[in-house]
Amino acid sequence: MKRIVILLSGRGSNMQAVVERCEAEGWPAQVVGVASNKADAGGLEWAAQRGIATAVVDHKAFATRDAFDAELARVIDRWSPDLLVLAGFMRILGAEFVRHYEGRMLNVHPSLLPAFTGLHTHRRAIEAGCKVAGLTVHFVTPELDHGPIVAQAVVPVLPGDDEDTLSARVLAREHQLYPLAVRWFVEGKLRLHDGVVAHTDGESQVLWPGVGVS
Ligand code: GAR
Repeated sequence: MKRIVILLSGRGSNMQAVVERCEAEGWPAQVVGVASNKADAGGLEWAAQRGIATAVVDHKAFATRDAFDAELARVIDRWSPDLLVLAGFMRILGAEFVRHYEGRMLNVHPSLLPAFTGLHTHRRAIEAGCKVAGLTVHFVTPELDHGPIVAQAVVPVLPGDDEDTLSARVLAREHQLYPLAVRWFVEGKLRLHDGVVAHTDGESQVLWPGVGVS
């Protein structure tokens, strides 16, 4: 049984998707803890109601990023995770923290990386006149929103889209793709070679518009 720990800073809809798919599909895994840097993150309450252990490490209580990272790692490691899943965790993590979880930390980012790292991805994609947008699941490396790509989903940018409509379209795909990628990890189906991730069974690592997942 693989032990999954999820980090979030907000509503936690991706966390919910992972927890629900893990249970419904009987993955060889369990979400054993959810941690947040924000005490009022909506996702914490949902997890607690589900009987999942939760913890808050408030970044404002620490004088330095390193001190915050060290306490966060201490809290996480009490749960002995095989995999750390960043699900809308909006703090930059230091190199030492990232190295500690190297090869066992995934993130979802709401753009087709390497385009639009950082914040306001949907607004920037619309402003740039992009005809497609999407999301990326990737292993976390010290450089923000970089790291070996596990899977991507593409959605159209439609005439008249604003940040809200585009982000809703992307989020619906996040809820499909992120659990799928986490499942691949816990089933041992991801292989990393020269910084490129492949699925061991050759399964497609991209969702296109109009193409669902089984
Ligand atoms: C998601 O759209 C996720 O891709 C994004 O935050 C949102 C969290 O939503 N993450 C990032 O921007 C990380 N750079 P959720 O709390 O409902 O899962």
